[in-house]
Amino acid sequence: MDAPDDNPAALLPPGARRASGDVEVAAYLGIAQERESASPQRPPEGGPPPLKPEAVAVVDYGSQYSRLIARRVREQNVYCELIPPDAPREAVAGLDLKGVILSGGPASVYSGGAPLAQPWVFDSGVPVLGICYGMQLLAHQLGGSVEPASEREYGFAVVRKNAPSDLFDGLDGEIGVWMSHGDRVGALPPGFRAVAYSDNSPVAAMANDAGMYGIQFHPEVAHTPHGAQIIRNFAYKVCGASGSWTPGNFVAESVRRIREQVGRGRVICALSGGVDSAVTAKLVHEAVGGQLSCIFVNNGLLRREEPERVRAVFERNLGLNLIYVDAAERFVSALRGVTDPEKKRRIIGAEFINVFEQQARSLGAVDFLAQGTLYPDVIESETSEQTASHKIKTHHNVGGLPERMRLRLVEPLRYLFKDEVRLAGAELGLPPEMLYRQPFPGPGLAIRIIGEVTAEKLEILRAADWIVMDEIKADGLYDKLWQSFAVLTDTRTVGVMGDQRTYQHVVALRAVTSEDAMTADWARLPYDVLARIANRIVNESPSVNRVVYDITSKPPGTIEWE
Ligand code: XMP
Repeated sequence: MDAPDDNPAALLPPGARRASGDVEVAAYLGIAQERESASPQRPPEGGPPPLKPEAVAVVDYGSQYSRLIARRVREQNVYCELIPPDAPREAVAGLDLKGVILSGGPASVYSGGAPLAQPWVFDSGVPVLGICYGMQLLAHQLGGSVEPASEREYGFAVVRKNAPSDLFDGLDGEIGVWMSHGDRVGALPPGFRAVAYSDNSPVAAMANDAGMYGIQFHPEVAHTPHGAQIIRNFAYKVCGASGSWTPGNFVAESVRRIREQVGRGRVICALSGGVDSAVTAKLVHEAVGGQLSCIFVNNGLLRREEPERVRAVFERNLGLNLIYVDAAERFVSALRGVTDPEKKRRIIGAEFINVFEQQARSLGAVDFLAQGTLYPDVIESETSEQTASHKIKTHHNVGGLPERMRLRLVEPLRYLFKDEVRLAGAELGLPPEMLYRQPFPGPGLAIRIIGEVTAEKLEILRAADWIVMDEIKADGLYDKLWQSFAVLTDTRTVGVMGDQRTYQHVVALRAVTSEDAMTADWARLPYDVLARIANRIVNESPSVNRVVYDITSKPPGTIEWE
């Protein structure tokens, strides 16, 4: 469901025309509501005035690297947004636009229906950088030509400068780059000159005097070693950006805007123990102090010492109003007899909403719900609306609090990537253990116990999980892994301990590396770490007599077992 254009929840930056699709309470909650039933977003009652951050816009032509371009620009302290190819001029009205990047994409400029650049891209007077397909668009639309390359250039290549340009300032004459293209620029558009060539591309880079550049290679990928310098040159030397997108500025600006938005209203925020809700809460607290109440629901599906840790940080260290609800029994009894993973998620989501609503009601009148929606969630929900991608697990289909709560949203992280959230969190003084914690799913241990969830199984799994964490951390592996955890399978096997035959549970270890959880590979953990973990689990947990290691990547597996 689309949000209104002037949605007040879009705190950064405004002019925010992006619709969030369904509003998520937060992915961490794993609330499995259907899209149609979930939309707490409402028209504003006077949102904050536009912020107009200095920005570069990336027009996304469908390259797998488009998001990466946005991240690379932001890494240079310049704010950056992705916009679709058909976005009108108004799409950038809320920005102090310094430049436009046209991304790569799978189309060929000559194929029917190929997405083009909008006229405003050329007449807005800001510099333009076309990357791969984006460069071919510049050639095609500005009077040059594009032709199929005699040989596809894919992978590492060397381009050689043949004329000076601001874009390649400070780089050697020969630049190692990553190429991935079938078409190439044939004739230059009027006013352009070639500034670099490669073996297969006579025009590997082109420029004109109006600050328009085209490059055939991908500066955003790690395989282009000086890519960051090229993006930096574009942002600073070509576009004249000043580098105002810093964690310090973000925090200061967010605080100011949250104050404006919230006024004297009251805000609630659900804490999960994860980084997104923590940074959201801390930002809102900085802005409106005691007007914020945080609710932390112990659903009984958390890891050992987790509830105590969250309380310690938020109540004692950060001084937030924290409502701690011990609802463990309620969740476990609601899960009694349930074995289907999706049903577990639905029950946990529904119970959470009930508990949360009850607590919120006890606070009296509340006006706002603060939640840690991130930029990838925003992009994702738009994309999934367009592509109706197949549902694997319901957490990919974000849900929200029911309409009846009638809360307006405060989403200060709505335009941030995860690494930027961590930087903002560090700026706000949150402890590193909280900022760099491995992801933990909202339904918690319930989806790591295969079959029915019982209090007894939760205890077995908590003990095993504790050992996994302990050993992984002891070996310095924690930060290198996306996730590492134990799963309590519903299989029992025969073993022998002392002279006794045993018939006990099998625990599976799962440790994966990943960039974004969309794909993952099983981690090649050292054998001696595996041995120590297995040994300790069977020795310290009398109910487990066997440990196995999951060596399935994603796809075809998923990270969690349920
Ligand atoms: P899968 O298992 O789909 O998980 O490969 C990808 C990432 O999402 C987490 N995950 C969840 N997070 N609610 C959540 O908040 C859920 O229901 C849920 N299921 C999986 C998982 O831990 C991994 O990081």
